[in-house]
Amino acid sequence: MTTFTHLFEPLHIRGKRLKNRIMSSGHDTSIPTDNLVNDRLIAYHKARAEGGVGLIVLQVAGVHDSARYTSHVLMATDDACIEGYRQLAETCHAHGTVVLSQIFHPGREIMESSDGLLAVAYSASAVPNERFRVMPRALDQGMIDEIVQGYADAARRLHQAGLDGVEVVASHGYLPAQFINPRVNRRSDGYNGELEQRLRFVREVIAAVRAATSADFIIGLRISADERDAEGLTESESLAAVQALQSTLDYVHIVAGTSASLGGAVHIVPPMAIEAAYLAREAGTFKASLSIPLFVTGRINQPQEAELILARGQADVCGMTRALICDPQMPNKTDSGRAEDVRACIACNQACIGHFHRGLPISCIQHPETGREQQFGQLHPAAVRKRILVAGGGPAGMKAAAVAAARGHQVTLYEASAQLGGQVLLAQLLPRRAEFGGASTNLQREMQRAGVEVVRNTRVDRALVEREQPDLVIVATGAEPYWPAFERGGELQVVDAWQVLRDEVTLGRSVMVVDWRCDWIGPGIAERLVRAGHQVQLAVNGTHCGESLPLYVRDQMAGELHKLGIAITPYTRLYGCDDNTVYLQHTASGEPMIFEGIDTLVLCQGHQPVDSLADELKGLVEVKRIGDCLAPRTAEEAIYEGLKVAWTL
Ligand SMILES: Cc1cc2nc3c(=O)[nH]c(=O)nc-3n(C[C@H](O)[C@H](O)[C@H](O)COP(=O)(O)O)c2cc1C
Ligand code: SF4
Repeated sequence: MTTFTHLFEPLHIRGKRLKNRIMSSGHDTSIPTDNLVNDRLIAYHKARAEGGVGLIVLQVAGVHDSARYTSHVLMATDDACIEGYRQLAETCHAHGTVVLSQIFHPGREIMESSDGLLAVAYSASAVPNERFRVMPRALDQGMIDEIVQGYADAARRLHQAGLDGVEVVASHGYLPAQFINPRVNRRSDGYNGELEQRLRFVREVIAAVRAATSADFIIGLRISADERDAEGLTESESLAAVQALQSTLDYVHIVAGTSASLGGAVHIVPPMAIEAAYLAREAGTFKASLSIPLFVTGRINQPQEAELILARGQADVCGMTRALICDPQMPNKTDSGRAEDVRACIACNQACIGHFHRGLPISCIQHPETGREQQFGQLHPAAVRKRILVAGGGPAGMKAAAVAAARGHQVTLYEASAQLGGQVLLAQLLPRRAEFGGASTNLQREMQRAGVEVVRNTRVDRALVEREQPDLVIVATGAEPYWPAFERGGELQVVDAWQVLRDEVTLGRSVMVVDWRCDWIGPGIAERLVRAGHQVQLAVNGTHCGESLPLYVRDQMAGELHKLGIAITPYTRLYGCDDNTVYLQHTASGEPMIFEGIDTLVLCQGHQPVDSLADELKGLVEVKRIGDCLAPRTAEEAIYEGLKVAWTL
């Protein structure tokens, strides 16, 4: 059935059979409680195993008490962890999925601690981390031995739990990489010197893990092919390291980036600004230099991309982690000739790594069922088939319509304009955000599959509802730009972000963009206008530009804005304007901030609900409001509310 012949070709490693070349690579879910596997995590992975993934590498498991890099990290430091892992492995094995676990020590890369106090961090040497501003202690021999033993004990427990193997995390500048990297490892003992000495720590780890487990237990190594940081491991250093280690390993798994700097960390979960399958070239180089299987992960968001990498012989297995967070059924759909139905990840980073960085269980903006499998895992047919009218074809309305129809309701969605998508249509016009449009394409496909009738160019009003007589109206009419009250004493041109994005206005040369939401819109408009030849200043309400954004999206964007030389002023609120001056106020001091010589003021001041329909329908029919017409937020809340409302009908 499949035309993805390379993707669905089995691979055998140490006697274990991977039924296909699709891997869910290790990703911290923030789902565990008490640092142990729980039922919610089992349900999360069960959904992916059921969806046909060949290999699941479980999230990092700390190997030593000093490895607690977040408060919710899984730990494999006590036999109490074995039972949870056993249930998780059995659940995935029942679907023919091979299960490994990452074994992990972050070294100096400590993000937070469970009690909020700063932890004592350890590394190869006392070389500070830039991103978390940690000054580590250099490990002494006693502690090195203890940590190596920790890796072995963790592997023994995971082996006992029935897992198929482990992956030693030497990627992203974590402890093994800190030993390998000559700029971080400044020791004067047998762990430093030439490459072989710098590999001593990781060699000891691999040997101890091998000794603590059986001959059929897989041991892989994850490493950044290039840490993409001035102080990070380079491609030639990483390549030399894995060439030297390969005889002790079953596979090498490459990624990019490092946790140690903001620029390097962007590659830990590369946002949509970074092109799909961007590590294919590096994978090809590594594969050609190794005689063991090569896995690659990084922005491989579609089965077509993975098939191409495999067909070109650039890798043996493709990590498709967010692709599976977004669509757990992706492997089965692809294998059964339904690749067109795959809900492609758009690398927005909002609900997956975005949640993780806020200490929350991960999910997906396009598939809010992710991380909530216990609640939304099984679609239940509606008890009574209702006629449902959805007003508004943005993300909220489309998700509600798709789920309600999939449950068996008769659903008609009305959109006032010619195109479905709502604000997604504008969001995709921002620089390097075109892929965001995929959210609309995917939802349209979901509606089509579920049998939703779509009526375009039709605004819903009371007369239409009286005519159609639905059992329920879901109002998802979205929002419009908010224009705050401010003193306006002259002829300065004032426009809003939507007018700019829709090319409805001709702007002056010198532009000031005032950004209240601190999200994608203000900086995106600023960048667009600079590229169009305007002289632009960006004033943001927050402490920094992009304050509301997922971190890697923010930092990738900050780099671009810096390259363009856009002046950014933080801590601002709009106060007023006259002929060619914009008056702002410092949000902390209240002092005025005066910007002269401005031709155009662009308002990025958020949105206000468009919900008059709900009032118009009062007394006529049951109404439910969802998405921005309830309260203007993001696509994530809109789609989740669409799911929730449709679930209860
Ligand atoms: C929520 C989240 C948490 C992650 N945590 C880890 C982790 O604990 N260890 C790790 O090596 N990589 C981690 N990653 C990186 C992923 O393994 C993967 O390399 C990354 O998502 C890029 O692959 P993708 O484009 O297929 O999603 C994480 C990714 C996500 C989305
Ligand atoms: S939240 Fe965005 S980046 Fe994360 S899995 Fe979903 S679509 Fe992909």
